[in-house]
Amino acid sequence: MLGRVNHIAIAVPDLAAATAIYRDTLGARVSQAQALPEHGVTVVFVELPNTKVELLEPLGENSPIAAFLEKSPFGGMHHICYEVDDIIVARDSLRAAGARVLGDGNPKTGAHGKPVLFLHPKDFNGTLVELEQV
Ligand code: CO
Repeated sequence: MLGRVNHIAIAVPDLAAATAIYRDTLGARVSQAQALPEHGVTVVFVELPNTKVELLEPLGENSPIAAFLEKSPFGGMHHICYEVDDIIVARDSLRAAGARVLGDGNPKTGAHGKPVLFLHPKDFNGTLVELEQV
């Protein structure tokens, strides 16, 4: 079912500061910031030769990463995103195996304009998993 690691996401309290660390201190290419109101975050992507790192900053009142940053005020690893060929087939087979899909179970459009779903961390070794159809 799983393909490549599409990205690893890190929640950050200050996206401009985090961008500067990756761009200026670590010398990586970092994308323009992109507001995703439907997901309650603003994101940039650090573009690496083999994958991407997504830096997430809360956006709006009910950001899903606000509670995470309360517990980890300096930021921290938030989720890992795996690519799948068919997100509906993946969702249905994971549900049949007892895994919990977050939200209403319908894919949303992610930062790359592709369908994404999130899986409950309790079912995946304490890691929030994002699936992205590519
Ligand atoms: Co992501």
